[in-house]
Amino acid sequence: MTAMIIDGKEFAARVRAKVAGHVTRLKDQHGVTPGLAVVLVGEDPASQVYVRSKGKMTVEVGMKSVEHKLEADTSEAELLDLIARLNNDPEIHGILVQLPLPKHLDEDLVINSISPAKDVDGFHISNVGLLGTGQKSMVPCTPLGCLMMLRDHHGSLSGMDAVVIGRSNIVGKPMAQLLLGDSCTVTIAHSRTKDLADVVRRADIVVAAVGRPEMVPGDWIKEGATVIDVGINRLDAPEKGEGKTRLVGDVDYDSCAARAGAITPVPGGVGPMTIACLLANTVTACCRANGLDEPEGLTA
Ligand code: GUN
Repeated sequence: MTAMIIDGKEFAARVRAKVAGHVTRLKDQHGVTPGLAVVLVGEDPASQVYVRSKGKMTVEVGMKSVEHKLEADTSEAELLDLIARLNNDPEIHGILVQLPLPKHLDEDLVINSISPAKDVDGFHISNVGLLGTGQKSMVPCTPLGCLMMLRDHHGSLSGMDAVVIGRSNIVGKPMAQLLLGDSCTVTIAHSRTKDLADVVRRADIVVAAVGRPEMVPGDWIKEGATVIDVGINRLDAPEKGEGKTRLVGDVDYDSCAARAGAITPVPGGVGPMTIACLLANTVTACCRANGLDEPEGLTA
C-alpha cells in the first residue's frame, strides 16, 4: 500500500481561513476583536522564530496581536505581574507564555498563574483536569491539530486502536485523552515500554511524539494504519552541501509510507496545524468570554 499524504499545510490554511471568517463575524456583529498576547522570556533562537510566526499569522486572520519580549534575567515576580495584567485586560482573550522558560523561572507556577479561560495552550492544571474528565476546556494546540486531521480523514474514530508514542504533558498525554474522548482504545507507549514494535503493530492509529529522529520503522506499521508524525528533528545533511541540514520526523517516512494508509509528512504535516489551532483556541476563548456560541469544528 502507498499511503495517502495528509497535507497539514493545506489543512492549516483551511483552519486559518475558517478562523478569519469568525474573526470578521465577531468584529462586525459583536464589536469584539479577539486578542492574543504572546510572552517570550530570553533569546532562545527557535522560540524567537515561533513567536514571530505566531504574531504574523495572528494579524493575518484579523486578530489583535500583542508581543511581550522580556530579558532573560526577568524575575519571577515581574513575569507574574505581567501575566496578572494580561489576565485583567479585556482586550486580551488568549495568553501564551513561550516555553521553555529560563531555568530560574518555575514553569508550573508561571503557567498556572494564567487565567484558565485565557490559557490558549491548554497547559493550566484546570484545563488538564477538565480535558481528563471530558469537560469543556482549552485543548493543547498540537494534539488538537492531530485530532482534527484524524477526524477529517476517518470521520469517526470510534473503536479504533490508537497508540501514542511519547508521554509529554504538551503532546502525548493530552493526545491520549482526546483519542479516548473519541472512543479509541488507547495505549500510551514510552521509552520503558516492552515490545514497542508489537504494541505499534496492533494500532490503527499511530501518533509518534517522542523527539527521536526516524525511530519508528515501516515494519512496525500495520498495513493501512494512519500515521501522525509529531516529531520535528533537524539532522545534518552533508549530501545537500556543507553545513546543510534537513528536517525529519519521529517515523522513518519512506518505509512507513509504504505500509500506512495515510501519513503526515515532515515538514508540512502536524507542524503548521499547531499555530492554526492556537488561533482557533483564541477565537473559542473570545466567544466564551463574551457569552457567544463558539464555532463548530474548531475545538474538541
Ligand atoms: N514551545 C514549543 N511548543 C510550544 C507550545 O505549543 N506552546 C508554548 N507555550 N511553548 C512552546
